[in-house]
Amino acid sequence: MEDFRGNSGPRGWRAAAEAALYGPGGFYRRPEGPAGHFRTSVHASPLFARAVARLLCRVDAALGRPAVLDFVDMGAGRGELVAGVLAALPSDVAARARAYAVEIAGRPAGLDERITWLSELPDTVTGLLFANEWLDNVPVDVVEVDSAGVPRLVLVTEDGSERLGEPVTGAEAGWLAHWWPLPAEEGLRAEIGLPRDRAWAAAVDRVVRGLAVAVDYAHTVETRPPFGTLTGFREGRETAPVPDGSCDITAHVALDACAAAPGMSRTPSAPARASSSAPSDTAQGAGASARELSGARLLTQRAALRALDLTGARPPLALASTDPSAYVRALASAGEATELRATGGLGDFGWLLQPVGIPDPLEDPLDTELPDTGRPDAGHPGTGRPETDLPEPPGR
Ligand SMILES: C[S@@+](CC[C@H](N)C(=O)[O-])C[C@H]1O[C@@H](n2cnc3c(N)ncnc32)[C@H](O)[C@@H]1O
Repeated sequence: MEDFRGNSGPRGWRAAAEAALYGPGGFYRRPEGPAGHFRTSVHASPLFARAVARLLCRVDAALGRPAVLDFVDMGAGRGELVAGVLAALPSDVAARARAYAVEIAGRPAGLDERITWLSELPDTVTGLLFANEWLDNVPVDVVEVDSAGVPRLVLVTEDGSERLGEPVTGAEAGWLAHWWPLPAEEGLRAEIGLPRDRAWAAAVDRVVRGLAVAVDYAHTVETRPPFGTLTGFREGRETAPVPDGSCDITAHVALDACAAAPGMSRTPSAPARASSSAPSDTAQGAGASARELSGARLLTQRAALRALDLTGARPPLALASTDPSAYVRALASAGEATELRATGGLGDFGWLLQPVGIPDPLEDPLDTELPDTGRPDAGHPGTGRPETDLPEPPGR
């Protein structure tokens, strides 16, 4: 991996961010981990891991309760999600679960020893592969339209100063034309999502049977932001993106393009739009394969969590007099659930579901056998089909 230090020459954002985030001394190799700089759903509440555990139980049921059930946390940070999922599983499922954290950074001390820590995806996955806020950290190049109306690669130096480079050509130009067409208006910008499409397709490729899920702040072809979304985060604050290893560098994800990528990996230079013009509806993964890749679907986190029985309903007031401390706990849980489902916040995140050889587990809920005790919304199961709207959410 290339070092960012001492490389002051201008280069594309993809190479610059790759070195700044993952190179020697890079941002994501620092000891404090992602939680030291921003809050994901995983950090916001243990309810998130419990909902993912319920999803894993549904996948388990759809797979016919195999002897070994894989759970893979892709881009695992410090393993917080995978540890929470293991802790929330009913004992009969936990006994069959094989848990992996896939992360560029090293294994944190004290992690549950049942968790296998890997720097790359396992060869095969039968179960659930879950990637929370991974794809937004797969580095991408940025383009900007010049005064002649031509999209050019944006080059950046280690201090964050930019200038325009060559016009975009080849597969990158094809991706832009298809997924993020830029009017010939000086200053418009876009991020080329091709590396994310490829990363997602490669991850889905490891799933023999089960479900792959990518959760991220997303936009679709109807809602691309005119000036792109590249930004930085440092110690809880949004900041200018500077590729010097001091901050996170992230950009919203074109999840509709990712949805179409699995099955297209052999022809990466010729992307095909997933389905008609309904990117947030049931975008079909392109091309059936021997592994029965079908029915990729985009929905909001709010809809996904509701389908997983996390509604954020407040506890009944009567509980306050019969069991005040249970009431206070349930109220706190309801607050956390509200944050995970919030409009204008985490609830607007996109969930990209890619079933492989099983039905969509959020489309047709099966009995999860996960105890519901302590959840404020127990007894309020999901209400049928999830929402399919996917508004553009804010950044972290
Ligand atoms: C925004 S953090 C999310 C962490 C965690 N999933 C969460 O939701 O709190 C993204 C993580 O993905 C990791 N990552 C990025 N690319 C990766 C790759 N190719 N393989 C493994 N981990 C990767 C980064 O090191 C970082 O820890």
